[in-house]
Amino acid sequence: MLETKLLSFTQQHLTEAGTIIRQGGLVAFPTETVYGLGANALDANAVSDVFRAKGRPSDNPLIVHVYCKEQIYEIANSVSDDALKVIDHLMPGSVTIVLPKKADVVPDCVTAGLATVAVRMPLSQEARQFLQYCKVPVAAPSANTSTRPSPTTWQAVNEDMSGKIDAILCGKACDVGIESTVLDLTSDTPRILRPGIVTASQIEAIIGKSVVVITNPKEKVNSPGVRYKHYAPKCDMVLNLDGDIAKLCNYYDQCVEKGQKPVLLVQDVAKYGNRQCYPLGETDEQVAHNLFAALRHCEKRYDIIIASYTGKGEVADSVINRITKSAGQKII
Ligand code: TXA
Ligand code: MG
Repeated sequence: MLETKLLSFTQQHLTEAGTIIRQGGLVAFPTETVYGLGANALDANAVSDVFRAKGRPSDNPLIVHVYCKEQIYEIANSVSDDALKVIDHLMPGSVTIVLPKKADVVPDCVTAGLATVAVRMPLSQEARQFLQYCKVPVAAPSANTSTRPSPTTWQAVNEDMSGKIDAILCGKACDVGIESTVLDLTSDTPRILRPGIVTASQIEAIIGKSVVVITNPKEKVNSPGVRYKHYAPKCDMVLNLDGDIAKLCNYYDQCVEKGQKPVLLVQDVAKYGNRQCYPLGETDEQVAHNLFAALRHCEKRYDIIIASYTGKGEVADSVINRITKSAGQKII
């Protein structure tokens, strides 16, 4: 067991966080999407410790986080015209781009043996400060135990990682709440491997060509992470996507009859009488912001989460991508 230090954003603590990273340790840190679990991306031993702390399969590659655009050229072998446009217009931000990697610089364990590397430059001031103090590119998956909901607060990181990592930089709750859009730019056709708050239409408007969104996880994909059990709360969970209130109430009542303690995780809590409800948020952005924190809240208090979400559109699709996996595809 390690003693996990809780650090704040003072100069002294940021210096300490940077030193831990350069000495091969692990530091969790906030970004505007979710909290990341950082290690020096150029240190294979430190990166192996990230996989161990999370219980993450070694064939699922990590995103390398950079502070400035120059750092991208240190780890990527080539930057296409499409990539240049995305870098100019959307970075820093909530998008990750997959580029051909510099094989002699980025260790194989970071990229799970792929010839490509995923690169992200986060936007949040806190993430940028941390990366600046690290002075090296930082490999970081979401800072949750593998298969659990991603952490959007330092307390959620602490639940999963206390005793397993050197430090947590305790910053604000994450604004976006779901992970970055992963955009593969290694071929002529840009492809979204994981949807997020940065949408296909935004990217199309910037690079001037159509972007393929990979939606079916059974299709052959180049992003190994989309294959695994993901985002699951510790309690049972089912999901409804058509907003049929009578069906949801009926499902809830049957759970109560069976002696279970259910909760309705819904957008409009006023519609369910005196049944236990937890607000999911009204707009799609609010739902994205709340989702993972809501799952972690409810799993501690209830036996089963009965979720309902009826959002439509590109941001909604990225929420549906997460919430469907959280429910283990159990649709009612
Ligand atoms: O918002 C985010 O992206 C957060 C913060 C911390 O930056 N990070 C994050 O990392 O969500 P993680 O490891 O939980 O998810 C990374 C995703 C996985 O689906 C992984 O398979 C994919 O990115 N990925 C990483 N490197 C890749 C590569 N070279 N080619 C294709 N997909 C890659
Ligand atoms: Mg993750």
